[in-house]
Amino acid sequence: MAENVSRRIFLKVAGSSVAGAGAALAPAASAFGGDKGTHPPQGIGAAILPYPRHVVGKAAGMRIDSPVSFHYPDADSPCMAIKTGARVAGGVGPDGDIVAYSSLCTHMGCPLSYEPESKRLKCPCHFSMFDPEKSGQMICGQATEDLPQIQLEYDPASDTVRAVAVTGLIYGRQANVL
Ligand code: FES
Repeated sequence: MAENVSRRIFLKVAGSSVAGAGAALAPAASAFGGDKGTHPPQGIGAAILPYPRHVVGKAAGMRIDSPVSFHYPDADSPCMAIKTGARVAGGVGPDGDIVAYSSLCTHMGCPLSYEPESKRLKCPCHFSMFDPEKSGQMICGQATEDLPQIQLEYDPASDTVRAVAVTGLIYGRQANVL
């Protein structure tokens, strides 16, 4: 008898605990669409997110090894577009040689500069170097991450180069679009 009572009490307590846990989880589930078949919000912590389109300039106006500065995906994110003079992976424009990167070093965020002689992006703070002809690959220095590449799109009809996305996370951010 005593054993039956204990068992009933145990099941009652356990049942209410499970119900309580379910109630506690319910708001989180509904915030993500719950049983409507939708998914949690995309992009939190992701390296590639949807972006606005932004005009960088006309391809005809760009000179080999003369970077064009712009900001993307917002005003706090300096970038540079470089016409390398040789067709490269991810390059756009009539010659497939225009690429763009965040201008902030991936080590501690110092502004990079482009050195035409070596065709490298260099950091003045701790001397990291990045290769714009190889998708911003980190060559040497304190940085451990490649440079975030600005994805470009080219419209031959208007000769316009546009920034359309970022691959990689811009220094100091938890997400590239805030
Ligand atoms: S901030 Fe660029 S190497 Fe340290």
